[in-house]
Amino acid sequence: SKQPIRVAVTGAAGNIGYALLFRIASGAMFGPDQPVALNLIEIPPALDALKGVVMELDDCAFPLLKDVVATTDMDEGFKDVNWALLVGSVPRKAGMERSDLLGINGKVFTGQGKAIGANAAADVRVLVVGNPCNTNCLIAMNNAEGVPNDRFFAMTMLDENRAKTQLAQKAGVDVTEVSNMTIWGNHSATQYPDFYSAKIGGKSAAEVIDDEAWLKDTFIPDVQTRGAAIIKARGASSAASAANGIVDSVRALTTPTAPGDTFSMCLCSDGSYATPEGLIISFPCRSDGQKIEIVKGIELNTFSRTKFDASVQELSEEREAVKDLI
Ligand code: NAI
Repeated sequence: SKQPIRVAVTGAAGNIGYALLFRIASGAMFGPDQPVALNLIEIPPALDALKGVVMELDDCAFPLLKDVVATTDMDEGFKDVNWALLVGSVPRKAGMERSDLLGINGKVFTGQGKAIGANAAADVRVLVVGNPCNTNCLIAMNNAEGVPNDRFFAMTMLDENRAKTQLAQKAGVDVTEVSNMTIWGNHSATQYPDFYSAKIGGKSAAEVIDDEAWLKDTFIPDVQTRGAAIIKARGASSAASAANGIVDSVRALTTPTAPGDTFSMCLCSDGSYATPEGLIISFPCRSDGQKIEIVKGIELNTFSRTKFDASVQELSEEREAVKDLI
C-alpha cells in the first residue's frame, strides 16, 4: 500500500484551516487512492481549539487519514513533512503599518523556514498562504537551509479563480471555457489579472468580451478587492474559497497542466519577463506533474507591462523592508 503523504498546516485552528483540513483528509488534494497524514501547527492560545478540530477529524473516520499530529513545536510539526502549507500568520490590526506587519511576520517565517530546513522530508514543497504571502515565502525560502528555492510557492490561485468566474459571468459562458488566466505580480491590491492573455473558448478574453472599459475599470479592481468585499458581506474573511484555492494550487503543482493552458503561481523569479531574480512573483506556470516551469513568451502590451511592473516594484520594496531577515 502507498506511503502517506505527510502535510504540515500552520494556523490549523484558524478559519482557513477549518475549511482546508477536511478536504485534504477526504482525498481532494492528493486523490482518492493516496493516504495522507496531517501535522497541525498552532500557537499556544489556539491549542484548545486545535484539539477540537482533531476531535472532528477523528469523527469523520476518513479512510485516507493515517495519522494526525497536533503541536505548537515547529521541529515536531515539520518533522518528515512532504508538504508545508504555511497558512497561519498575524493579521493586520488597526493602527498597524504594512511595514510593522512585514516585521512581525518576518520573524515567524524566519523560524518556520529554519524548522523546515532542519526537519522536513528531502522532497518537501512549501506553499505560503499567510499574508503578505509573497514576502513571507521569500523569508522562509532564504532561511530554509538545504531546501532548493524551486520548492517554494505562494498562492495566487484564489485570485485566478475569482478572475475566471468574473470573466465567465460577463461573457455568459461556463467557467471551464476560461483558460490561461494569469495573475501577474504580488498577491495584493496591485496584482494584475491579465484579461488580454486570458482565453475564453480559446480566443483572447479581451476580444470576446469586447468592453475594455469594463475590463480595466470594473474587472481589475473587483478581482483586486474581492477579499474586502467578502469581509463586508459576510462579516468574516473568505476562508472556504481560500481553502479551495490551496487544494487547487497543490493539484496544479502535482498534476500535468492541460495542453496549452497555464496556472498562476508565485515562485522564485529566474529573471523571466525582465523581473528581479530571487523575488517571489506570480507568473503563468505549467507543471508536468513534478517539475514546474514559468511559461515564457507571453506578449505583454504597454498596459499589461505597466501594471505588472508596478506590482513587481511593490515586491522589491517589501524585500527592502525585510532585507535583514533574508
Ligand atoms: P485566522 O486568523 O482565522 O487563522 C489564523 C491562525 O493562525 C490562527 O488560528 C492563529 O492562532 C494561527 N497562527 C498565528 N501565528 C501562528 C504561528 N506563528 N504559527 C502557527 N499558527 C499561527 O486567519 P485565516 O482566515 O485562516 O487566514 C490565514 C491567513 O491567510 C491570513 O494571513 C490571510 O490574510 C491569508 N489569506 C491568504 C489568501 C491568499 O490568497 N494568499 C487568501 C485568504 C487569506
